[in-house]
Amino acid sequence: MKILLFGKNGQVGWELQRSLAPLGELIALDRHSQTHCGDLGNLSGIVQTVRDVLPDVIVNAAAYTAVDKAETETELADLINARAPEVLADAAKTHGAWLVHYSTDYVFDGSGKRPWREDDAVKPLNVYGRTKLAGERAIQQSGCWHLIFRTSWVYAARGNNFAKTMLRLARERESLSVINDQFGSPTGAELLADVTAHAIRTACYRQDVAGLYHLAADGETTWFEYADYVLNFARDAGMPLKLAKDALIAIPTSQYPTPAGRPLNSRLNTEKLQTTFDLRLPDWRSGVERMLTEIQGKS
Ligand SMILES: NC(=O)c1ccc[n+]([C@@H]2O[C@H](COP(=O)([O-])OP(=O)(O)OC[C@H]3O[C@@H](n4cnc5c(N)ncnc54)[C@H](OP(=O)(O)O)[C@@H]3O)[C@@H](O)[C@H]2O)c1
Repeated sequence: MKILLFGKNGQVGWELQRSLAPLGELIALDRHSQTHCGDLGNLSGIVQTVRDVLPDVIVNAAAYTAVDKAETETELADLINARAPEVLADAAKTHGAWLVHYSTDYVFDGSGKRPWREDDAVKPLNVYGRTKLAGERAIQQSGCWHLIFRTSWVYAARGNNFAKTMLRLARERESLSVINDQFGSPTGAELLADVTAHAIRTACYRQDVAGLYHLAADGETTWFEYADYVLNFARDAGMPLKLAKDALIAIPTSQYPTPAGRPLNSRLNTEKLQTTFDLRLPDWRSGVERMLTEIQGKS
C-alpha cells in the first residue's frame, strides 16, 4: 500500500508518521517539502503531488488550527481547511484513492449536554468551525472513498496544546483562571494516529466503512478540571511550579472573552466508530498521563 501524508509535523501528523509506517510505503510531506508539493495553500501543487505519487490512501493531517486568528484570516483558513480538502477529494476520486481527513467538535454550537452524534445538526460558532465544516462537506460531496474523523481537544508531547500551556503558566504565575463550563474530552494524537492506522487497514477490505466518525477519548471533563489534573500530576512528579494548589480558579466562559466563540458542549458520541471498527476508546486520563510522563524529563 502507498500512503501520502500531508501535514507530517503537526501533533497528529507526527504520530501518523509512526503509526502509518508499518502499513506500506509512506510519503510524508509538510509545507516545505522539496520532493513533492506539500503546501495546502498551493492547490494545483497538491493535485500534481497526488498525480505523481498515485497513492492508495491520502491522509490529510494539515489544517489551519489557529482558532482565534481565523476570525480575521478568514480567506487563509478557508483555503487550507475547505478548498484544499476539496481538491484532495477530487484528486482521490479521480485516482481511486481513499482520503482520510480530520475535523472538529467545533462544527457544533455546543447546546445541550448530550454527546453529539454524527448525524446531529451542525451550527459552528466561529470561522474555524465553518471552514472545517465546509471541508467535510466538500469531501462528502466529491464521492471519493473517505474517512473523516471529528475529534476534540487534541494534545501531544510534541507541539503546542492546552496541557503544555498550563504547565508553562503554572511555572510563571501565582494564580491562574481557567474555564469550567466547557465540556469535552482531551484526545491524544497518539490515539488518533493508532485508530487511523487500524481504520485504514479495515478500509482495505471493507469499502462500506467509508464515512464520518466521532473519535475522542472516553469520559468527559472541563478545561478547569483538565488543568487541575495536569498540575496535580506535575506536583506529584516534583515539577517546580509557582502556582499554589488553591490558586487555580474556575471561571465561566463569559469571564474569558476570546475573538472566536467556543461551544460549551463538545462531548462526542463515539459509538459508531467503536462498533464499526470493533475498537474500545480509553479514558482521556490514560493518554494525558503518558504525555505528561513523556514531557516530564524535558520541561
Ligand atoms: N488541535 C486540536 O485541539 C484539534 C481539535 C479538533 C480537531 N482538530 C483537527 O485535527 C487535525 C490535526 O490537528 P493538530 O492538532 O495536529 O494540528 P497542528 O498541531 O496545529 O498541526 C497542523 C499542521 O498543519 C500544518 N499546516 C498549516 N498550514 C499548512 C499549509 N498551508 N500547508 C501544509 N501544512 C500546513 C501546520 O504546519 P506549520 O507548523 O508549518 O504551520 C501543522 O504542522 C486538524 O484537522 C485539526 O483541525 C484539532
